[in-house]
Amino acid sequence: MTKKLYIKTYGCQMNVYDSERMAEALGAEGYVTTEVAEEADMVLLNTCHIREKAAEKVYSDLGRLKPLKAAKPGLTIGVAGCVAQAEGGEILRRMPLVDLVVGPQSYHRLPAMAKKAEAGEKTVDTDFPEEDKFDHLPDRPKAVARPTAFLTVQEGCDKFCAFCVVPYTRGAEVSRSADRVLSEARGLAERGVREITLLGQNVNGYHGAGHDGDWSLARLVREMARIDGLERIRYTTSHPNDMSDDLIAAHGEERKLMPYLHLPVQSGSDRILKAMARKHRAEDYLRIVEKIRAARPDMMLSGDFIVGFPGETEADFDATLDLIRTVNYGMAYSFKYSARPGTPAAERTPVPAEVADERLQTLQALLTGQQRAAQMAMIGREVSVLFEKPGRLQGQMVGKSDYLHAVHVRTEATPGTIARVRITASAPNSLAGEVA
Ligand code: 5AD
Ligand code: SF4
Repeated sequence: MTKKLYIKTYGCQMNVYDSERMAEALGAEGYVTTEVAEEADMVLLNTCHIREKAAEKVYSDLGRLKPLKAAKPGLTIGVAGCVAQAEGGEILRRMPLVDLVVGPQSYHRLPAMAKKAEAGEKTVDTDFPEEDKFDHLPDRPKAVARPTAFLTVQEGCDKFCAFCVVPYTRGAEVSRSADRVLSEARGLAERGVREITLLGQNVNGYHGAGHDGDWSLARLVREMARIDGLERIRYTTSHPNDMSDDLIAAHGEERKLMPYLHLPVQSGSDRILKAMARKHRAEDYLRIVEKIRAARPDMMLSGDFIVGFPGETEADFDATLDLIRTVNYGMAYSFKYSARPGTPAAERTPVPAEVADERLQTLQALLTGQQRAAQMAMIGREVSVLFEKPGRLQGQMVGKSDYLHAVHVRTEATPGTIARVRITASAPNSLAGEVA
């Protein structure tokens, strides 16, 4: 009998990938996905613990599932992802409607847990098992998918930035074998995927084993560039200290490696970078950006910033603004510091909330200005666009440019087509263009 699965994904792209793999694993047990929670036999929340707001949202969403569970006692409710890892069995105590809790490293055991839940048994699995979950997940289905796909190549983080829960929720850095990654990439290309984004919490720290020695991310990218049908390669997220010369060189040499790089710096103040345990100075970051732009002059950079980190003064904040002006970002994500339980910075005296709020506004105004300017600079230029899906208007397609801008184009082309497009206009979060 088919059962219906509703998955809600919070947080980062790795969770998007994990949700797909969980759906596939449950698919092998007869579950088909639905977009409608009310229809589901199983609701799975794939959660994020990175900031307090994200974690608390899970509990309010669980609260909202109470009437559904009351109306349908056979409904299985599962919590997966980083909140599951961080809080484990505590979730069951706080939210008795939850049936299963599964961490990001043990979700290959989800089908067995779902069976137990159906029999009325609650389970929690937040192990970091010896076995690799990817070896125990079903092969990816052959059906044609979307033109773009994520592919996790590395998980976990050994950097221990003072604010971050990732080293605790995702564990130590582990790289998947290059052979497996390449075979998954080939499989995706055979399914019609034209663009693959390699994922890792520290993706440029990738060092996988392979049939012939060690593989760096640069080597992996170069090998992937030889896969027929695969036209675009991206990777995210990178730490500045792992931006090797070889990887930078690949940006100048590999046509398929897209000119967009997410390279978080968090702060432009050396004092704060030290307090954050980032293990680099602002100047080191700027040197790396220079090298990258020397290899690929049109590189579009994106970053992450935290304001209101404990001890951040007005001068420290000004240093961040200065760094942003120097780099000139095409895109950026900025956050108010959120104290996370178990991290070193959580013990420190916070910056007053009003001060952090004000700084966030100032920072976002600067970053939004840069983003708009980068978009405006595209007008009149020709870019390549990979069409992904029909747009809102009849006869329109939406896709991403090389620089990861969303572009709306009037065309008869089908999803998966790559076309040269001349950009004609810029809206707040997308561009418009016509086939060149
Ligand atoms: N508070 C605010 N932002 C955080 N990030 C990570 N941890 C925290 C925290 N405790 C941000 C960083 C990181 C991005 C994924 O989330 O900027 O790069
Ligand atoms: Fe978190 Fe720092 Fe690791 Fe990024 S590098 S996941 S911010 S600890």
